[in-house]
Amino acid sequence: MKKNKRIAILTGGGDCPGINAVIRAVAKKAILEYGMEIIGIEDGYHGLVNNKHRKLHYNDVSGILTLGGTILGTSKIANPYRYAVENGKNLEFYDMSKQSVRNAKRLGIDCLVVIGGDGTLGIASRLNKDGIPAVCVPKTIDNDLRGTDVTFGFDSAVAVATEGIDRIHTTAQSHNRVMIVEVMGHRAGWIALHSGIAGGGDIILLPEIPYKIESIVGKIRERIRRGKKFSIIVVAEGAKPKGGDVVIQRIVRESADPVRLGGIGFVLCGQIEKAAGIETRAVVMGHLLRGGSPTAFDRVLATSLGTKAVEMIENKRFGYMVGVRGNKLVEVPLSDVAKGSRTVPVNHPLIACARSVGTCFGD
Ligand code: F6P
Repeated sequence: MKKNKRIAILTGGGDCPGINAVIRAVAKKAILEYGMEIIGIEDGYHGLVNNKHRKLHYNDVSGILTLGGTILGTSKIANPYRYAVENGKNLEFYDMSKQSVRNAKRLGIDCLVVIGGDGTLGIASRLNKDGIPAVCVPKTIDNDLRGTDVTFGFDSAVAVATEGIDRIHTTAQSHNRVMIVEVMGHRAGWIALHSGIAGGGDIILLPEIPYKIESIVGKIRERIRRGKKFSIIVVAEGAKPKGGDVVIQRIVRESADPVRLGGIGFVLCGQIEKAAGIETRAVVMGHLLRGGSPTAFDRVLATSLGTKAVEMIENKRFGYMVGVRGNKLVEVPLSDVAKGSRTVPVNHPLIACARSVGTCFGD
């Protein structure tokens, strides 16, 4: 008699709206259509290294479509190939990949479904080669993953950022101030570009287009001449001045990608006040963009990606990620995904579109 498959689900990297919707889609389809058994690996790759997991029954994945975060827990630092262990004040790194492969074998899983961004999927690609068959689903609010036009979580983050910009307009207008809204996005400007356009930002600063403070001040003054005594600046956390560098908020030593960005909004605030003599304030939206319920678009995307992942397991398409190209779901080799991040091309049509309605990019 043919034995039903057993699959495990792991979520890695930063949380983002829609992860639970993917877990639900994978588990429900796998259970209902194929009678598969589902294991949830806890706290990202920590769970794989340390054998922390639990069985997921139908009722565990029912009612979580709209829930933010991940019911499995996640980690931005756990990496089986470079596993950080504290030894007094020192950090030591160990290769725990063989133990992870052994743990997966002992669990008897036919496939590991990995839901994550570039770091998490890069590890999945290596584990797939080392003996854990993996099928992946692209997740990140940053939308910076190669091999897919869009990641789930992005639309939800843009919606929250846009609401923040809308609300900032009130103070900017009432007080004749420059208001700066700093949004996440890592080294890519997708969130700033989309929310900046949606929220009617007068100046949008992206990591991909280094800015000059004179251009920013020039735009603010031009608006004043036109009778608009306030300006809204939307800045990506990874934006940097021409010839300068990003603002680093902290270094996370345990992480393979240790730099955490943040604080450019406050730096700009001081620079603008000094150069233009206009009262300026900054707000950092930060992790607010990762919280809460996914938008309708992200729920649909998460459900499509999750169900497609199960088809890929059935077809033994291991070592692949489900991606979106145009309106189609496609299978993308993990080796393509791991080639680095996808930033905004400077000739992107949305940049031209924003420029044509007077938006300044600080260049
Ligand atoms: O990748 C998602 C993201 O939220 C980035 O936009 C941001 O740079 C980073 O994670 C923040 O990381 P942490 O949660 O470790 O502060």
